[in-house]
Amino acid sequence: MVPQLRVYVPPHPLIKHWLAVARDASTPSVLFRSAVTELGRWLTYEAAREWLPTLETTVQSPLASCPATVINSNVPVAVVPILRAGLGLLEGAQTVLPLASIYHLGLERDENTLQPSCYLNKLPEKFDPQTRVLVTDPMLATGGSILKAMSELVHRGVEPSLTRIVSIVAAPPALQKLSADYPGLMVYTATIDEGLNDQGFIVPGLGDAGDRIFGT
Ligand code: PRP
Repeated sequence: MVPQLRVYVPPHPLIKHWLAVARDASTPSVLFRSAVTELGRWLTYEAAREWLPTLETTVQSPLASCPATVINSNVPVAVVPILRAGLGLLEGAQTVLPLASIYHLGLERDENTLQPSCYLNKLPEKFDPQTRVLVTDPMLATGGSILKAMSELVHRGVEPSLTRIVSIVAAPPALQKLSADYPGLMVYTATIDEGLNDQGFIVPGLGDAGDRIFGT
């Protein structure tokens, strides 16, 4: 069977609630940040299913020895926030993945051409091929930024099938491109929106997440 991009929209009331708060144009920056943090927490929780490596062991309870499953901390876990807006999801993601290494990647989309350019790259030269990588970016619009991020990661040894993308609003053009280039990859998003307007903004979307997180 040919592997396909899998896109999960977890049907969870907390995710729906914080998405509604984030979408609302009257939400002030301080609450918008909280909404994005909460979405980062719960979407990462969902993404960690069958992704975080575990080990079977035994533990001694106060009464008896019993089988137990624990996180395998020998397998590296990394979070790659796409600056700036991906930083908003990082805090919540870190509460779920406290031992993860954080590698920042700064990408900026040109307002006219919509092409991304990289202004900060803190990725290691080479990842251990077993590394579980979680990429955070609240918006997948044309897909230019996430494709650039994926290409930088794969170039450094990251395995797409061990990679999870956490976003808030994903648009069909980005999902189609990811599907064509990275079958086997998984995306966790709060919603899949209708499409893009003439300026490349997701509709209905949530506006410019970076500006709303940082109040700029
Ligand atoms: C936004 C967003 C994504 C990108 C999505 O970032 O956070 O990274 O655009 O668009 P695309 O799928 O068409 O590439 P932006 O470049 O505005 O930078 P920011 O996060 O610093 O605001």
